[in-house]
Amino acid sequence: MVRQSMLRLCLHISLLIGVFQPTYALPHASSSALYGWASANGNDESSQLAPLRGSSTLLGVVQDELSSGNSAEVPQSAYELAPGQAADADIGIPFTFKDTQNPQPIRGDLGSTDPGPRTYAYDRLNPNTFAPPSSDNGEVTQSKWPLGLSHNRILPGHAGWSRQENTDVLPGATAMAGVDMKLAPWAYRELHWHQANEWGIVLNGSVRVQAMNEDGQTFTDDLDVGDVWYFPSGVPHSLQALGLGSEFMLVFDQGNFSDGGTGLITEMFLRNPKEVLSKNLQAPLEDFDEIPQDQLYILNGTPAPKDVKEQTIPGPGGVASGNDSYTYHLSKQAAYETPGGSIKIIDPVNFPIAKMFSAALVTIKPGAMREIHWHGTSDEWGFFLAGNARVSVYEAPTSGATVDFSAGDISYVKATASHYIENTGDEDVVFLEMLQAPRFTDISVAQWLKLTPKQIIKDTLHLPDRLLDNLSPNKQYVIQGNRNLTALSSGSGIA
Ligand SMILES: *[C@@H]1O[C@H](CO)[C@@H](O)[C@H](O)[C@H]1NC(C)=O
Ligand SMILES: *[C@@H]1O[C@H](CO)[C@@H](O)[C@H](O)[C@H]1NC(C)=O
Ligand SMILES: *[C@@H]1O[C@H](CO)[C@@H](O)[C@H](O)[C@H]1NC(C)=O
Ligand SMILES: *[C@@H]1O[C@H](CO)[C@@H](O)[C@H](O)[C@H]1NC(C)=O
Repeated sequence: MVRQSMLRLCLHISLLIGVFQPTYALPHASSSALYGWASANGNDESSQLAPLRGSSTLLGVVQDELSSGNSAEVPQSAYELAPGQAADADIGIPFTFKDTQNPQPIRGDLGSTDPGPRTYAYDRLNPNTFAPPSSDNGEVTQSKWPLGLSHNRILPGHAGWSRQENTDVLPGATAMAGVDMKLAPWAYRELHWHQANEWGIVLNGSVRVQAMNEDGQTFTDDLDVGDVWYFPSGVPHSLQALGLGSEFMLVFDQGNFSDGGTGLITEMFLRNPKEVLSKNLQAPLEDFDEIPQDQLYILNGTPAPKDVKEQTIPGPGGVASGNDSYTYHLSKQAAYETPGGSIKIIDPVNFPIAKMFSAALVTIKPGAMREIHWHGTSDEWGFFLAGNARVSVYEAPTSGATVDFSAGDISYVKATASHYIENTGDEDVVFLEMLQAPRFTDISVAQWLKLTPKQIIKDTLHLPDRLLDNLSPNKQYVIQGNRNLTALSSGSGIA
């Protein structure tokens, strides 16, 4: 005990010396002048009106009157509520701040004005986060990642760019990751391969894809907007944008995937001794004089022959075709129409090589809604290609969160968590829904209610006969909606 308190005393003394002798352990004052040092820590407070830190008289109770006349209340004259914002919070109207002066975090009787500091752009983009419906509760796995917040890898010669979403930015998104990539006309995504399986969809322009597999089977194809490809783990491939360039979205079956971590042909050449390259390819050393001294990743290229057949090199295993094909021309698949929009399903039933990638490309008209559903075995990775929407996720047992999405956002919902996608804007929502499952399936809540004995539903939820009689036994996928919610805002009518 005694030794400890002696130690502490010594420590205090040395600290005091430190405070009162600022030149402690430094050269003498003369050398301070020589080097221009004002004090031991390099702060020159001599020319300032106030020192860097205030005095001890400011600690605790200070006798002065409060001098600030600053109000935390935004006066009613300085803001307006959006149409529907004053409605009961339990109706949860999907209002927009698009034309609203000085949006406020108020919904019905809930909330209070926000005096700032704030960034209006976030509040306008996220009205349901800023002023949530009262159905929101507890904590829900973060479900939104705007690609606009992803670091962009921009390549020399205006060849292209890429940005990604993975568990670094969306920690709950463990089953899938996404990469958004743009290639300029004739630019390549370098010949490469990786551990994850890759599924891709063309967003703009067109692209030539090329691969060779373990059986010496080759594959080359041209894809248009809306077409899909799949490359299994380890199969080396490359992509070349055609004459109008291309943007595409890649989805990988590992949440921690990083596109900076793939195997690249340039790196592989750099990581082998030239003696080995010479032996392996039976060529003189000087043949390797011009290989790139750094990886290329995305690079400008020369125009590809117009006819894709000219670039099809049949291997000993032939050319992959039929069920072995690495592409599917989803753009040419007619959409399944529903009253509120349409849906195209692509899964191993129609695209067999993509073993666990099941997808739906959903179009939701203004006011309409992808019905409340969940996926039994797989998390859902989603991408918004167009429009504005909101999603409420219910995570068992008691949590719910409503989140706004717009074109360019990625969404992620855990397996068995219920959710819907409601179009809250004036244009169609186009949404890509991806699962890791051998078939695209969901549990439709409306269908479940219809196909459960009425007595059970009535005893449990106290819903009237007329509601249950009206339900369809079939999946609706996208339900039509009323765009005018004025009546609903005042507490009656149907959405
Ligand atoms: C690229 O595709 C998106 C999504 O379909 C579309 O909104 C956009 O207008 C397209 N861009 C161009 C330059 O055509
Ligand atoms: C990434 O996730 C996969 C499972 O999806 C795991 O096997 C692998 O070890 C992870 N890699 C890293 C670097 O964390
Ligand atoms: C192709 O795959 C589908 C779906 O798995 C299957 O029904 C069909 O029989 C396969 N066709 C051939 C020629 O193997
Ligand atoms: C919306 O509905 C309200 C009430 O039902 C009605 O008074 C109003 O005219 C409608 N607005 C439009 C643009 O149709």
